[in-house]
Amino acid sequence: MGRVFVAGSINMDVVATAERHPRIGETVAGEAVLYFPGGKGANQAVASAKLGARTTLVGRLGSDAFGQELRTFLAAQGVDLTFVKDTAGTHSGTAIITIADADNTIVVVPGANAQVDADDVAGPSLAKGDVAVSQFEIPLPTIAAFFKRARAAGATTILNPAPAKQADTALLDLVDVLILNETELGFLTGTELSDSDAPARFAEAARNLAQGKIVCVTLGRRGVLALVEGEPLLVAGREVKAVDTTGAGDCFVGALASQFASGKPLRDALAYANVAASICVQRMGAAPSMPTAKEVEDVLDA
Ligand code: RIB
Repeated sequence: MGRVFVAGSINMDVVATAERHPRIGETVAGEAVLYFPGGKGANQAVASAKLGARTTLVGRLGSDAFGQELRTFLAAQGVDLTFVKDTAGTHSGTAIITIADADNTIVVVPGANAQVDADDVAGPSLAKGDVAVSQFEIPLPTIAAFFKRARAAGATTILNPAPAKQADTALLDLVDVLILNETELGFLTGTELSDSDAPARFAEAARNLAQGKIVCVTLGRRGVLALVEGEPLLVAGREVKAVDTTGAGDCFVGALASQFASGKPLRDALAYANVAASICVQRMGAAPSMPTAKEVEDVLDA
């Protein structure tokens, strides 16, 4: 059984709920202010750990009260924090999130996440069968250094290029599995895509990024489309009542990583991750809404 190593961001999500999102320049009255542990790296690590994989997070926290809270929460979820450093002189990553009608807007202020560097990712020893996971909320050169080490050790690399930003081909060439949503796919391929497009259109865009890797396009309630050796594989979504989609993509990534680490075939891993994400969206918050293995298995068995 392999392990999962996640190099990524750790944030405190400061969430305001409202009946609707404000327009630019407008003020609307909110309903509640909530504080949830989040950050794409932390969310993916929590999902993986709760689904049964031995999971190590590599990242940084600020020397502030949020940092202490986040460390306590992540440890309680079973995530190994040996390589999470406290960083003096900066704050912990903070995301300002508004949620209305189950949809969100997010502004992330990276704080300590911006200082995760190549020395940090040189800490853990990876081995064949392990899975290395990262996203775009830490510096891109750090991700490249992490994936080079992972590749040299024979581990599988998973990149979730979120939030979308331009990445050079040298980084993308270090990736075995690319997991992205339609916005990120549109951005990275320079294609106009909308969530109502036919799956074939996503497959066509994904082909431009494949270059020998598996590309998984998460399609929200429509499920996931994977492109494997040029062949599309569609796993349908589940009809559920979403209350908060924050972290659902991270849940999918962490779940897929946990399944790869346990040697599951791709189709089974995709179906599993799809169910995990469908449970996540039915709860408020990012990291706290990640499901357990039993919750996912109960749905799969039903
Ligand atoms: O993907 C969701 C996450 O994005 C939130 O938890 C927030 O912290 C931002 O990083």
